[in-house]
Amino acid sequence: MKKNYLLVGSGSRGIHMFAKPMVDQFKETASLVGLMDINIKRAEAANKILKTNLPVYNDFNKAMKELKIDTVLVATRDSQHVEYIIKSLKAGKDVVTEKPLCIDAAQCKKILKTQKETKKKVYVTHNYRYQPCMMLIKKMLKEGVIGDILFIDFHEKLDRLHGADYFRRWHRVKKNSGGLMIHKSCHCFDLMNWFVDSEPVEVVATGDLVVYGKNGKFRSKRCRGCAHQSKCEFYVDMFPENSEANDLYLNAESEDKYYRDACVYDKEIDIEDIANVLYYYKNGVRVDFSLMAFTTYEGIDIIIEGTKGRLEYSVIHDNSWMAGKVTVHGLASSLGEKLVLYTSEGVKNMEIPKAEGTHGGSDPLLRKDIFIERIPNSPLATLEEGINAVLVGDAANKSIKTGKPVKIKDLRK
Ligand SMILES: NC(=O)c1ccc[n+]([C@@H]2O[C@H](COP(=O)([O-])OP(=O)(O)OC[C@H]3O[C@@H](n4cnc5c(N)ncnc54)[C@H](O)[C@@H]3O)[C@@H](O)[C@H]2O)c1
Repeated sequence: MKKNYLLVGSGSRGIHMFAKPMVDQFKETASLVGLMDINIKRAEAANKILKTNLPVYNDFNKAMKELKIDTVLVATRDSQHVEYIIKSLKAGKDVVTEKPLCIDAAQCKKILKTQKETKKKVYVTHNYRYQPCMMLIKKMLKEGVIGDILFIDFHEKLDRLHGADYFRRWHRVKKNSGGLMIHKSCHCFDLMNWFVDSEPVEVVATGDLVVYGKNGKFRSKRCRGCAHQSKCEFYVDMFPENSEANDLYLNAESEDKYYRDACVYDKEIDIEDIANVLYYYKNGVRVDFSLMAFTTYEGIDIIIEGTKGRLEYSVIHDNSWMAGKVTVHGLASSLGEKLVLYTSEGVKNMEIPKAEGTHGGSDPLLRKDIFIERIPNSPLATLEEGINAVLVGDAANKSIKTGKPVKIKDLRK
């Protein structure tokens, strides 16, 4: 049955993950009926980019009243997800929200309560699960290829192009994004929750801001017109003539003062750029996780140690295409991706499944799951799974702040 969707948050992700594919590819099953954004100029810019003439709103209630909607797609900044999820559920609509579900345990509780009252559906687009290699790892774990999991060692490294971008805009303030432990690491926590298939119990973490923010020797408001351009390694010119970034951000600034190229050395930055997180699950699996957002090369290393073997995954990304651009698509190309299985029978280099499209091939598969029909063994994250990812990140944030371990059950109370 064809469904009607309202997009709330018509920024780059909303446009490229949902709106454009709906308009271009999924016309048979999905109809985009309107664009809502707190910044009306950005909603209008979305119409221009999409080459559509959809109704635009900066008033959610008005959009809900005027349009016939089945499902609300939420792609605003992270801290605002909660507001639109709850309003949509109360209006009797299903919700598909971008990750993270929300930014802390208190917001999780409100969403869960409303979902139970309304019985409408909430799905979270944890796209990392859909990367073909991650689906292969999940399958191997389920088949018991390495026995029972005992330990996961997971390290995410974001480079000075992609990583720095989180320090240019709203993500850089905890009250907007929950910091990188929520905004970024929720991908990794969700992936591990999914692999381990158990509930996280207790988290201890440390974190710091060692490169961006207060660490800069000079600073300005933004890159555009900055006097330090020639000596700043993080300088970017994000607004070449006729670029999408001009329509979406530069020309919409007058409404909300959202500078897409704000200075990475701004002293308002209060999120960590490095963190170490240790935690364990009900079934005993232990995790050693780290995140850095300033590395020379970007990549991920995962080791999963089981009772009968070990899986080692690693990838290095080439983000050089991103230099000076707005990171709209997550098109990092791989400089090498490896999955190795170690068992008593020897060492086997696994064939890496083919992946096509953004975010390692995950986005197109996730869209099919949402807009056409669920694929067999669909990994689409439920509300409870979205909550569990946020809870690990929130526990890490609280542990970083207090220096103490945090029990997940205390966050659920
Ligand atoms: N799954 C992924 O791989 C992935 C990748 C990128 C972004 N995201 C998520 O997508 C969402 C959007 O990120 P983005 O990169 O497009 O950011 P963006 O800044 O480009 O877009 C966010 C939009 O939200 C709007 N907005 C802010 N406050 C609002 C409010 N109160 N009401 C309505 N609209 C509001 C802004 O005006 C902006 O248009 C975030 O939740 C982010 O975490 C997910």
